[in-house]
Amino acid sequence: MSSPFQQNGRVVLVTGGASGIGESTSRVFAAAGATVLIADIDLARGEALAAQLPNGARAIRCDVTNEEEVKAIFASLDSLDVLVNNAGIGLVGNVEETEMADFERLMRVNVTGPYLITKYAMPLLLKSAGRVVNIGSVAGLIGVKRRYAYCATKGAVIAMTRQLAVDYPTQIRVNCICPGTVDSPFVEGYLEKYHKHEKEKVRAELNTRQPIGRLGKPDEIAHLALYLASDEAGFVNGSVITIDGGWTAA
Ligand SMILES: NC(=O)c1ccc[n+]([C@@H]2O[C@H](COP(=O)([O-])OP(=O)(O)OC[C@H]3O[C@@H](n4cnc5c(N)ncnc54)[C@H](O)[C@@H]3O)[C@@H](O)[C@H]2O)c1
Repeated sequence: MSSPFQQNGRVVLVTGGASGIGESTSRVFAAAGATVLIADIDLARGEALAAQLPNGARAIRCDVTNEEEVKAIFASLDSLDVLVNNAGIGLVGNVEETEMADFERLMRVNVTGPYLITKYAMPLLLKSAGRVVNIGSVAGLIGVKRRYAYCATKGAVIAMTRQLAVDYPTQIRVNCICPGTVDSPFVEGYLEKYHKHEKEKVRAELNTRQPIGRLGKPDEIAHLALYLASDEAGFVNGSVITIDGGWTAA
């Protein structure tokens, strides 16, 4: 019997594929046989990663908020089987603390980004009966303290996932992963920016916020993305799946 969840011969594009969850996703799909396109604003990091991966992986400079850039990327591709909308940024603040410029920046990267990427990927995905995996967050499902803008954007990612599944129920499959807090440069950046002098205390609080008592690992999220993009997940469509150490079960 062949091993499950294979991606042999498939072309997979991962936005924000150079770091954290995206980096693990790039590694896991490449190991499963895919040719991975690492689409990231950090081209140098993407290229360094691509050089370590098999099957002709390559990095593409891509700002998901730039329509012309996104359009040109998909116009230059011959085929696409799997799209992972992973690029995203965070922001700490309640509604009063959230400045309009920051709110709009978050909306552009986390919401307009996947919209543009999906829009221009659609012709290729329709040809390949493609699979889309959106990276949402538990913050799109429940209120997380002082994450007003972030919760708004991740709620939108969940809504866009379900809406897409309704418009294209047989042509593509689209699902959304909602991770709890995952140990990635995203979290390190948050600790450095907001809790520089009490990093270990806040890290411990982040661990206990999840009943399992630890942060998620990027690899754990990447393997769920691999499953959702695989033939074995053929009946999974329009689903919103938490992977959060029990956070939202509490
Ligand atoms: N780490 C967590 O705790 C956590 C939890 C739930 C959901 N998420 C989501 O997972 C996704 C990845 O997060 P991560 O923790 O791996 O973050 P990360 O900061 O480690 O990586 C994000 C990547 O996205 C890239 N990026 C940022 N803006 C971009 C843009 N405009 N265009 C293209 N690429 C861009 C960055 O260069 C970076 O390589 C995000 O959508 C995030 O909201 C993260």
